[in-house]
Amino acid sequence: MIQARGGAARPSTDRPALGAIGEDAMKHLQDIGQLSAREVRGLLKLTQILRTERETDGRNAPLLQGKQLAMLFMKPSLRTRVSFEVGMRHLGGHAFYLSPEEVGMGTRETPADVARVLGGMADGLLARVFAHAHIEELIAHAGIPVINGLSDGSHPCQALADVYTLQQEFGSLQGLKVAFVGDGDNNVCRSLLEAGLLLGMEMRVIAPRAYQPAAAYLAALPGAVQVTDDRDAVRGADVVYTDVWVSMGQEERREARLRALADYRVDRALLERCGNPELVVLHCLPAHRGEEIADDVMDSPRSRVFPQAHNRLHTQKAVLAHLLGGVPLPD
Ligand code: CP
Ligand code: NVA
Repeated sequence: MIQARGGAARPSTDRPALGAIGEDAMKHLQDIGQLSAREVRGLLKLTQILRTERETDGRNAPLLQGKQLAMLFMKPSLRTRVSFEVGMRHLGGHAFYLSPEEVGMGTRETPADVARVLGGMADGLLARVFAHAHIEELIAHAGIPVINGLSDGSHPCQALADVYTLQQEFGSLQGLKVAFVGDGDNNVCRSLLEAGLLLGMEMRVIAPRAYQPAAAYLAALPGAVQVTDDRDAVRGADVVYTDVWVSMGQEERREARLRALADYRVDRALLERCGNPELVVLHCLPAHRGEEIADDVMDSPRSRVFPQAHNRLHTQKAVLAHLLGGVPLPD
């Protein structure tokens, strides 16, 4: 059985910069790029332990008994909200949802004040925000573990489920060839690149020039990414990953984005360019079927998008058990 260490709010300072990785530095989940490979592997192992425990015993040990998770959402959510809420219940704790209208972070109250208040009442804070700086501000002032449930800059919880899904599928992640196709400058792509490089995967981004990751961002990553606008670069990929072309908050530029990205749809013709019959297709969801991904790819035998969504629950539980319950990450 897994034991929780005596619980505890830990100080929220001293975050390492992207790429400046310290062993066992995980006090929050802000970005995958701030974690060590050992921490990410440890989270994947803890994920499997908790999953096996539940599937074998029909329940998890109540590692988070009496713990409260505040879930602050400035944008809509299905998977993130449900997986954290159910995950807390599986571990014996409780989660409560705070809507944007209710809290008015940035209008009714500053992020720092929201953080100070919640830090005195809850044991952890999950936040979905627009500006990535708001995650940093929450971390600086909450005094409790803060989990980034998606910002305009990154989506680390998604990336953990993505790499867990690939581990389930392929066993070893080392050398796996992953091609992200579409809006290569978005939150999901960034966190996937960070996780993939950390775990030894070969990462490619296939996107029109204006939608490729910024050079400064790529330079700070702990490894090389092949970035191109040539769709033939999917050849030989083991995994094709895509996400919406219009992320939450980008709706005003919708028409321009659809025009710019129209040639980067993940459809049967693109999959044929891969030339790999064992190819796996991922999408973080929600999908805009017929835009970034064709129906017949979403629903094809190569698609793993629904197990990928279900894996959010399993990986979230590891994050919660470690950050709120003090459960050590296995080696
Ligand atoms: N993939 C994901 O984060 O989904 P939600 O926006 O529904 O939470
Ligand atoms: N890039 C998408 C991801 C949704 C989970 C968005 O930010 O809207």
